[in-house]
Amino acid sequence: MRVGILTGGGDCPGLNAVIRAVVRKGERHFGDTMVGFSDGWRGAMEGRFVTLDVERCRGLLPRGGTILGSSRTNPYKTEGGADQVRAVLAENGIEVLIAVGGEDTLGVAARLAAEGTAVVGVPKTIDNDLSGTEVTFGFDTAVQVATDAIDRLHTTAESHDRVMVVEVMGRHAGWIATAAGIAGGAAEILIPEEPFDIDLVSKRLVRRHQAGRYATIVVAAEGAVPATQPDDGTTNSNPGAPAVASDELDQFGHIRLGGIANWVAGQIESRTGYETRVTILGHLQRGGTPTAFDRILATRFGIAAIEAVHDQAAGSMVALQAGSIVRVPLAEATGTLKTVDMTLYRDVAGAFFG
Ligand code: F6P
Repeated sequence: MRVGILTGGGDCPGLNAVIRAVVRKGERHFGDTMVGFSDGWRGAMEGRFVTLDVERCRGLLPRGGTILGSSRTNPYKTEGGADQVRAVLAENGIEVLIAVGGEDTLGVAARLAAEGTAVVGVPKTIDNDLSGTEVTFGFDTAVQVATDAIDRLHTTAESHDRVMVVEVMGRHAGWIATAAGIAGGAAEILIPEEPFDIDLVSKRLVRRHQAGRYATIVVAAEGAVPATQPDDGTTNSNPGAPAVASDELDQFGHIRLGGIANWVAGQIESRTGYETRVTILGHLQRGGTPTAFDRILATRFGIAAIEAVHDQAAGSMVALQAGSIVRVPLAEATGTLKTVDMTLYRDVAGAFFG
């Protein structure tokens, strides 16, 4: 069989491990020939691809990023773009396409599948917000990076008796903030799912500091939203909305978020008088080598994806459920976002707030 693979959307650690596993099992077990499209859906539209074989994939397992490149291209936003993808696949004899991506990339895959193209999905995103799977690869690495950063910030916060506000990724879902906040012992965790009350947060920090000298860590997801305009006359440029780094929309209609930690830190400092500093982790969370957990999950997903190709299970996405790899319909996986488990947030993380 001739099988194509592409990686789309924001990159994440483990993409290369998926490519390696697909190619290994495809070539050695099924006798497939494999091609990799460059730069996600853009390469699939433009017919840009490279041949992939086991030799080409040597050394890929621990490598971050994606050897194929990635983009946020949406073929449905280009006149005739989806037809171009179909034509490229047909002209090059590619029978099935494996799309590795998050909600946007797999949303395109689901639409193409519904229109008759043979596509198998593999879920990736550091944000862990894709439905149908308990976890996506890349998330564990991002949480580890954020936790390591929080551990480091703790010691300097202690020395200076400061509050440290750490901003992590998470546009619509606060999975990284919640997990790294629990692992790093955060005193407050601000997530998009639960608009936060800056008055309440500040009061809890005062109570905490009154009990003694504390190093205080506040973790904020980039998509965290203040519940209301503060009642003390200070202004939030975006009351009830997330902080925006750039309001230019990408092809999937997303603005670039970032900077909520700066506003939160200013508010805490002016309300409490505690010296407060900000660290925005940004793309550090997406770069570098995957953790062992992500390497294993990405490898399992890659093997399962090429098996799905040969089981004629196009239209499905491989997923992790209760420790096993299963297949779920692409449409189901991309229908709604998987937001944070509020029991984990309120009962586990929340037990340590303040
Ligand atoms: O991949 C998802 C994500 O990590 C979001 O949390 C974040 O908002 C976005 O990527 C940033 O992507 P970029 O700056 O690479 O476009």
